Amino acid sequence: MTKRKLNLVTGASGKTARACLAHLIRKGARTRALVRRAEAADDLRAKGVSEVIVGDMFAPDVMKQALEGVESVLHICPPMHPQEDALAIDMMAACKTAGVGRFVLWSVLHPHINVPHHRRKQKAEAALIDSGLMFTILQPGRYMQHLESIWPQVFNAGIHAFPFSTSSRFSLAHLDDLARAAAEVMTNTGHENAIYELAGPEALSSEDCARQISEMLDRPVRAQAAPLDAFLAKARAAGMPDWRIETFDIMNRHYDGHGLQGNGNVLGWLIGRAPKTFRQYVSELAAR
Ligand SMILES: NC(=O)c1ccc[n+]([C@@H]2O[C@H](COP(=O)([O-])OP(=O)(O)OC[C@H]3O[C@@H](n4cnc5c(N)ncnc54)[C@H](OP(=O)(O)O)[C@@H]3O)[C@@H](O)[C@H]2O)c1
Repeated sequence: MTKRKLNLVTGASGKTARACLAHLIRKGARTRALVRRAEAADDLRAKGVSEVIVGDMFAPDVMKQALEGVESVLHICPPMHPQEDALAIDMMAACKTAGVGRFVLWSVLHPHINVPHHRRKQKAEAALIDSGLMFTILQPGRYMQHLESIWPQVFNAGIHAFPFSTSSRFSLAHLDDLARAAAEVMTNTGHENAIYELAGPEALSSEDCARQISEMLDRPVRAQAAPLDAFLAKARAAGMPDWRIETFDIMNRHYDGHGLQGNGNVLGWLIGRAPKTFRQYVSELAAR
């Protein structure tokens, strides 16, 4: 019997990678996860991941070990990392040496806007296109799942607050839909040399989100623009590193003026049904 092809997922203890691994496992794919903490390794094995490599993904020897015998890589960089582009480029070179067949890059919706981590992802995309590797670039929009971080305040105090204008619109995408799309491109042919914009089905402002939640919970919920400085001070006190705070600041100022809107057609085509709506996500969250 031939051995099933091995799929490597980096950043594997993170929320994005976990969602993608769950879909790969559901499809019967053989998976290898790269994590930096041993505790995360046990948990992922228990969830059905076939193999786990523990180590720093920035270390060349770890990268080499993780890529051995791998057919497809889904590379998910830690959020806003200042070395994101350099890491992706090193990873591509290591993939070529290891004979990896497919490199799937978890990028971002509109990588060319003037926000540092978008620009670093854009550099990684350009390097991938020129790398000679077979590639698929995924450009996900803002996840609906950000609501989870403010849900207690939404639910208990009726305040839906993010640090940007309440009228900025985002094509919020359900992480489970995005992960399903990633598993599709990792395991099937037909996605070679493609760039897929993966946005959600509706462009919603905080005001729209608050209105929909209010209707669903049958109680008042109002949108509020949380003061960005206070938000950053809280993040700093919680130990967020300076480089991340700086990027977070620029991102939220950009969101304040422009939001982040895209189109959900490609996501729907990839997953074979309409992408989940914000209302569907809220009903899942409220039922927990
Ligand atoms: N959130 C969104 O709306 C959105 C939208 C589009 C794209 N994205 C992109 O999605 C990607 C993943 O975001 P996420 O929110 O899923 O991240 P996350 O939950 O914070 O996970 C990142 C993971 O990377 C791991 N990690 C960090 N440094 C590492 C290292 N040196 N070696 C090995 N592993 C390391 C962390 O491990 P530990 O558990 O040990 O800390 C963590 O599990 C980011 O590139 C982000 O830009 C996010």
